[in-house]
Amino acid sequence: MSVIERMLGRDPDDAADSNGLVLAPMRKRDLKDGVLDTEEHAYPTPWSTRVFQSEIEQARTGSRYYLTARRRSGGGRGRVSGPSIGHAGLWFTGDEAHVTNVAVHPDARRTGVARTLMVALADEAIRRECVAWTLEVRVSSTGAHELYHRFGFVPAGVRKRYYDNVEDAIVMWCHDILDDDYARRLDALRENR
Ligand SMILES: CC(C)(COP(=O)(O)OP(=O)(O)OC[C@H]1O[C@@H](n2cnc3c(N)ncnc32)[C@H](O)[C@@H]1OP(=O)(O)O)[C@@H](O)C(=O)NCCC(=O)NCCS
Repeated sequence: MSVIERMLGRDPDDAADSNGLVLAPMRKRDLKDGVLDTEEHAYPTPWSTRVFQSEIEQARTGSRYYLTARRRSGGGRGRVSGPSIGHAGLWFTGDEAHVTNVAVHPDARRTGVARTLMVALADEAIRRECVAWTLEVRVSSTGAHELYHRFGFVPAGVRKRYYDNVEDAIVMWCHDILDDDYARRLDALRENR
């Protein structure tokens, strides 16, 4: 392990350190260490262990990208501690990225965890030269609408009864993410401006 890796207190594949959080690629052992707990608190129909395992396997082939977020103990440069408190993922199709999941544990909400994860997802989509990203969101998830609006997503349509054949999904798109304007938007979001 390098000095930096020791500071992070984690494996060399740790991805980023931002907002007092350590973001890292999701691994199967994270599922019982916070991911499934957050997932169950976040959605009426949470993803199962099997779905996550399949997504993590597909991340190895490059068609998916999943991150977890953990806090540091003592803040600053302290070691990573505790379970995952948030996770998020992308599915890459052609030159577009599809947000598959963004979930934050209720105890950790409104502290910038989802914003930090979304910035990291955007960075990865841009690194892979995606020109746009998209997602579906429940009509009732008003907090998520506000989050996605800040990232430049705009409603583009409705999928009727998309969730459990009951609730509609709003389809949102955000285009031109390789442009300088979008880089400036992301820089503002990094600093929560
Ligand atoms: C939506 C969700 C991911 C937000 O996570 P979070 O970590 O609390 O969000 P952040 O703290 O990063 O919020 C960033 C910004 O998004 C907006 N936002 C987030 N939650 C909001 C809420 N409940 N009400 C209004 N605005 C909200 C705000 O602009 C916020 O900035 P601010 O706190 O400085 O005002 C979280 O509430 C969650 O897991 N919900 C259940 C699962 C879900 O709906 N996922 C999205 C569907 S795909």
